[in-house]
Amino acid sequence: MDKGQRSQWLYSTQSMHSAAGVVCVLLLFPLLLGQTMAQGTPQQVCPEQSDISPCICTVKKNGLDVLCEATDLMHITKSMGTLKGKSPIIFYLKLRHNNLPKLQGFVFLALDIRHLTIHNSSLAAIEENALSSLGKGLTQLDVSLNQMKTVPSQALQHLYHLLILNLNHNKITVLHNNAFEGLDTLEILTLYENKITQVDPEAFRGLEKKLKRLNLGGNDLTNVPQKALSILDTLKKLEIQENKIRTISEGDFEGLQNLDSLILAHNMITTVPANVFTHLSMLNSLELEGNKISIIDKDAFKGLEENLQYLRLGDNNIHAIPSEALRPLHRLRHLDLRNNNINVLADDAFTGYGDSLTFLNLQKNDIKVLPSTLFENLNSLETLNLQNNKLQRIPQDTMEPVIDTLRIIDITDNPLNCSCELTWFPKLLEDLKNKDDEMSQKKKPLCHMSLDNREYFVQAMPTEKMHCAGLNVSPSPTSGGLIRILQVNILAQIAMCSVAFLSSF
Ligand SMILES: *[C@@H]1O[C@H](CO)[C@@H](O)[C@H](O)[C@H]1NC(C)=O
Ligand SMILES: *[C@@H]1O[C@H](CO)[C@@H](O)[C@H](O)[C@H]1NC(C)=O
Repeated sequence: MDKGQRSQWLYSTQSMHSAAGVVCVLLLFPLLLGQTMAQGTPQQVCPEQSDISPCICTVKKNGLDVLCEATDLMHITKSMGTLKGKSPIIFYLKLRHNNLPKLQGFVFLALDIRHLTIHNSSLAAIEENALSSLGKGLTQLDVSLNQMKTVPSQALQHLYHLLILNLNHNKITVLHNNAFEGLDTLEILTLYENKITQVDPEAFRGLEKKLKRLNLGGNDLTNVPQKALSILDTLKKLEIQENKIRTISEGDFEGLQNLDSLILAHNMITTVPANVFTHLSMLNSLELEGNKISIIDKDAFKGLEENLQYLRLGDNNIHAIPSEALRPLHRLRHLDLRNNNINVLADDAFTGYGDSLTFLNLQKNDIKVLPSTLFENLNSLETLNLQNNKLQRIPQDTMEPVIDTLRIIDITDNPLNCSCELTWFPKLLEDLKNKDDEMSQKKKPLCHMSLDNREYFVQAMPTEKMHCAGLNVSPSPTSGGLIRILQVNILAQIAMCSVAFLSSF
C-alpha cells in the first residue's frame, strides 16, 4: 500500500465513523417525530365496505387509501358521496382500469384528496370544475394511460399546491402557450409517450419558479423546443429521449443554467456541433446513446469542463474516441462508448482527462490493437469493458498502469491468443478475490492456443506447457483484515448509539 492509498484508507475510515454517527441520529429521529405526529392527527376511519363498494378503503398512516377499479362514473360518484359524509383525509385516491371518458364537474367536492390517480380509464376530458375544489390539498395528480388529446389547462389551473403532474401515455399532440398556467409550485412534469410534435414558445410559462424535472421523452419532437425551455432556470433534469430530433445546435439549451442531467438518448442526432452545450455549466450527466452520431466537433463539450462526470455515447456510429473534445473534461468519471465503430485507438486517446475516469466501456467495437501507452494516465480506473472486440493480444505492459485500481474487467468475446503475456489476468482475478471484491463476471474469457489448436479459459491456460516463468499467484494478506476492523468499529458505534437511545427514556 503506497502513501496515496493509505491516506485514502484513512479518509474512508473517518468518513465511515461519521457515517455511524449519522446512522445514530437517523435511528432516533423518526421515533421522536412519530410521537409528535401521533398527537396531531386524528385517527382516520374508513366507511363500511358495503357503503363504499366497489371501491376498497384502507387506513394508512397519513390518511385513507381508496382504490376503485373496473367500474364507472356512476359507482365512483356514489362512493365519493359516502366518503364526503366522513370528511376524512384521503391520502391516495386511485381510480384504475375504469370506464371514465369524462370527469364531471364537482365529483370530488368536499373531499380532501392529497394524491389522485386516474389511470387507464379512457379519460378524454376533465371538466373545468372537476378538480377545482382540490386546490388546497392536492400535491400529486396522475392521469397516465388515458385518451387526453390536450393538456386540460382549465381544470388544472386551480391546483396551486401541486408538486407532481403525470400525463404519461396519453394522446397529446401540442403543448399550447400557458398550458400549465397556475401550477406555480409544480416540481415534476412528465409527458412521456404522448404524440407531441409542437411545443409553443410560452408553453411552460408559470413553471419557471419551481420546476425541477421535465420529461418529454417518447414523443415526436423533431427539434429541441428551445424557446419554451429557455425560461426554466430551476430545471435540474430534462429528458427528451426517444423523439425524432435530427439536429441540435448552439443556443438550444440557453437558459437552463441549473441543469444537472440531460437525456437526449434514442433520437436521430448525427452531429454534435461546437458549443451546443455551452450554457450548461452545471451539467453532471449527458446521455447521447442510441443516436446516429458520427461527427463530434472538437468544441462539442465546451462549457461542461467543471461539472460533467457521466457521458454516454454508446450505440452510435463513432469511428474514433473523440479525444480532442473530451480532453478539457477533467472531472469525467464515466465514459461509455459501447457499440460504435471504433477500430483504431490513438496512443493519447485518454490524455488530458483520463486521470478522473473510473468507468470506461469500449465493448462491441472493432478494436484490434491496444497501444502500449494507452492506459498510462488512467490512475483511477475501476471498471474496464473490452468485451466483443477484435483483440488478439492484451499485454501485461499495457495493463500495468491500471492493474492496481481495477475492480471489474471484461475481456470476453475477443479472439485472444493464449500467451504468457496474458498471465496478468488470472493474477488480477486472484488479487480481487483476496480483496473481498466479488468480481461481477460470470463469463470467462477464452483464448486460442496455436500449439495444440485448442481453446482454453484464460484463467486455466497451461502455463507450464507454455513455458511461462514467474506466474506467481500468491495471496496478499493485508486488505481483508482492514475491512473487518472497520466493520467491527461501526457495529460498536451502532451499539453505543442504541444504549444512548434507550437510556434517554
Ligand atoms: C386497462 O384497463 C382494461 C380494462 O378497462 C384492461 O383490460 C387492460 O388490461 C388495462 N391495461 C393495462 C395496461 O393495465
Ligand atoms: C495469434 O495467433 C495466430 C495463429 O493462431 C497468428 O496467426 C497471429 O499472428 C497471432 N496474433 C498475434 C497478435 O500474435
